Amino acid sequence: MLIILACFAASSCTVQTDIYCLRSIKESLEDPEQLLSSWDFSNNTEGFICRFTSVECWNADESRVINIHLSDMGLRGPFPIGIKNCTSLQVLDLSGNRLTGQIPSNIADLPYLTTIDLSKNNLSGSIPPSIANLVLINVLRLNNNKLTGQITPELSELDRLKEFSVANNRLSGQVPIFNYGVVSKKSYANNLGLCGAPLRPCNHENHVVAILE
Ligand SMILES: *[C@@H]1O[C@H](CO)[C@@H](O)[C@H](O)[C@H]1NC(C)=O
Ligand SMILES: *[C@@H]1O[C@H](CO)[C@@H](O)[C@H](O)[C@H]1NC(C)=O
Ligand SMILES: *[C@@H]1O[C@H](CO)[C@@H](O)[C@H](O)[C@H]1NC(C)=O
Repeated sequence: MLIILACFAASSCTVQTDIYCLRSIKESLEDPEQLLSSWDFSNNTEGFICRFTSVECWNADESRVINIHLSDMGLRGPFPIGIKNCTSLQVLDLSGNRLTGQIPSNIADLPYLTTIDLSKNNLSGSIPPSIANLVLINVLRLNNNKLTGQITPELSELDRLKEFSVANNRLSGQVPIFNYGVVSKKSYANNLGLCGAPLRPCNHENHVVAILE
C-alpha cells in the first residue's frame, strides 16, 4: 500500500518501470559487438537512461522512454519481453538483428506504439492478433522473418496504418481486407500461400464466384 501511494506521489513507478524495461532488454539479449555497453545502470540520476545509445525519452530529465532504435546491432536472443515495461513507448525498432522465437502477444499492452519494426530477424510463430488493438500504429514492418500462420483479419481495422510489410515469411491464408491502396502486393511477396486482394483471390472466393456465375 505504501509503495502504491509513493508511486502516485512521485510518479516513481513510471521511472522504475522504464529502467527495469531497459535493464531487462540488455540482460536478455546477447550483444557480441558490445554496442549496449553505454547502458550503465549504476548512475541513478533522474533521466540517466535518456542518455543511453539508441534510447529517446519524452523529456531528457525524466526516465520515460518513448523511442528505442536498436537496428542492425548484431543482437541475438529471444524477443526481449521486458519491453512491455516501457509503458510510454511509441517507436520500437529491433530490425536487422538475430532475434529468434515468437513475438509476444503482450506487445499490445504498449498502447502508444506508432511504429513496430521487427523486420530482418529470425522470428517465428504467428503474428499476435492482439497487434490489431494498437490503434495508433502507422508502421508495422515484420518482413524477412520466419513467421507462419494466417495474418489476423482485424489488422485491417488499424485506421492509421500507412506502411505494412510481411514479405519474405512463411505466412498463408487470406490477407486482411485493407482499404484500397494501403497495402501493395510487394508487402506480401515471398510467403507460403497468401491470397485475397491485392493478391490472387482465395479458392473459397473462386468457388463462390463460380456458383454465382
Ligand atoms: C513490469 O510489467 C509487469 C506486467 O505488466 C508488472 O507486473 C511489473 O510490476 C512491471 N515491473 C516493474 C519493475 O515495473
Ligand atoms: C551521473 O550522471 C550525471 C549526469 O550525466 C553526472 O552529472 C554525474 O556526475 C554522474 N555521477 C556519477 C557518480 O557518475
Ligand atoms: C535462424 O534460426 C535457425 C533455426 O531456426 C538457425 O539455424 C539460423 O542460424 C538462424 N539464423 C540467424 C541469422 O540467426
